[in-house]
Amino acid sequence: MASTFEILAGRLARAFDRLAPGADPVLRPSERADYQANGALALAKTLGRSAREVAAEIADDVDLDGVASVEVAGPGFLNLTLEPAFLAERLAALLVDDRLGLELAPARTVVIDYSAPNVAKEMHVGNLRSTVIGDSLARLERLVGNRVVARNHVGDWGTPFGMLIEHLLDLGEDRAIAELSIGDLNGFYQGARAAFDADEGFRERSRARVVALQGGDDETRRLWRILVDLSVAYFSEIYAKLDVTLTREDVVGESSYNDALDGVVRDLDALGLLMESDGAQCVFPAGFTNRDGEPLPLIVRKRDEGFGYAATDLAAVRDRVERLGADELLYVVGAPQTQHLAMVAAVARRAGWLPDSVRFEHVAFGNVLGPDRKMLKTRSGESVKLVALLDEAIERADAALVERAIDLEVDARRELAAQVARAAVKYADLSTERQRDYVFDLDRMLAFEGDTGPYLQYAHARLRSILRRAGAVDLATATFALEESAARDLAIGLLGWPDAVATTLAGAAPHRLCAYLLDLAQRLTAFYDACPVLRAEGPVRLERLALCDLAARTLRLGLGGLGIEAPERM
Ligand code: ARG
Repeated sequence: MASTFEILAGRLARAFDRLAPGADPVLRPSERADYQANGALALAKTLGRSAREVAAEIADDVDLDGVASVEVAGPGFLNLTLEPAFLAERLAALLVDDRLGLELAPARTVVIDYSAPNVAKEMHVGNLRSTVIGDSLARLERLVGNRVVARNHVGDWGTPFGMLIEHLLDLGEDRAIAELSIGDLNGFYQGARAAFDADEGFRERSRARVVALQGGDDETRRLWRILVDLSVAYFSEIYAKLDVTLTREDVVGESSYNDALDGVVRDLDALGLLMESDGAQCVFPAGFTNRDGEPLPLIVRKRDEGFGYAATDLAAVRDRVERLGADELLYVVGAPQTQHLAMVAAVARRAGWLPDSVRFEHVAFGNVLGPDRKMLKTRSGESVKLVALLDEAIERADAALVERAIDLEVDARRELAAQVARAAVKYADLSTERQRDYVFDLDRMLAFEGDTGPYLQYAHARLRSILRRAGAVDLATATFALEESAARDLAIGLLGWPDAVATTLAGAAPHRLCAYLLDLAQRLTAFYDACPVLRAEGPVRLERLALCDLAARTLRLGLGGLGIEAPERM
């Protein structure tokens, strides 16, 4: 069914249109009424009339019979209040709808490039943001019925592999495998780096090894495989610990595009887009200049004949559009790569590989900071291991559960602690507008109160506890009189769910869903204060239980879209 918001916006839009074709109301949920539209102000300006007059004309004309009453307010706002019968009917429909009013979109294919850690390098907090944001978007796209193809574009190619393979040989295969199997990727990488910096002979061997790798030498490829496979196995463990939906099939690393790179260069050349600059093969897409106003190159093939990162990304665009049939390409990649991705998109559009009908969006994000508001680092200045942060979050969540004297067996409590820890870490990340930086502060993230993941989990568990204690009731027979304003406010909040998902996906902005769920939890608190549930009787009790059920399911579905579990008890 169309959402309440869509119904209101649609009817208003028709009235605006009759007054001035193409004029649009701007509708939003409001504290004053249920919804407020302020489009009359802009329209009055174009028409050269008074805003209140225009608003009054629309209020007269708009067809909201049986849906809402409308009133002109302030300088020319339209305040809309839903009719009780309409509200009751909507809620009754939600009671028997697993998706709580969320419509299935005509399926589009959405390719989401996310996580993308580098082989033989520890996953760090920077990978965290890409992983958590990307996975939330993947879950939400699936929830609205889209086909999601996840692409874990792992860094598994390039010059560092010469040094990494030589280091593997120096350590001896067995020892190297042992080191990598226990997840000591940093140790391995630093060992390679140290040898490279200290020893000219090692550097020579490394360079020769890169050539052998690129030339397809069998033994070199075998050694390279060992590094890739062990790293991917390690990443998989972290994904499991984070409860992230990425699988091994989603790992399509940079090396997967090797065979397509020649074609990229050849086709760009045939299109006349390729130019030589400083010995490198480049494209100069329109609109990109440096500070001095000179055109900026996207380097496709380097002077040494090696392919650049850009060539791989271009090959990936072609694969995703041509072979996978993508309607949308999302890149959940840090903000520093904004220009790179914009240039890749511009070149791909120019070359005809990225039709205008395909959306290309860089879902950029900011940094994770330490308490000093600088990039989060360990005391010795290294990047912090993601797995260490997670483990610490789990220990602290467990301690908090012990302190709350939660009545659970040890294994169940440990599992709950892991769920709470994941909720804390993911929610703190997702609830920050993604372009902004945030401070990694476990104490704040793990709090059971405030704007946190555990708070929302708790709001859900509390509802579940009420519903359990109520025993078996046939909620489908509930009717909604909504006498108390707190009950009505909660109902209005529940109707906002489909729009919260829609605005979240439109902006690839999970913080909007977080804000929606937090607002719902706050409406619940006011509802409990004004409307006792289990102590009520008859139809009122049933109505309140039904509101609890709808709220619990909305929280569960919403948290699920963020990749956060909703435990039954907390
Ligand atoms: N591996 C890269 C890094 O660690 C991120 C890759 C992003 N994805 C892409 N298609 N370029 O910075």
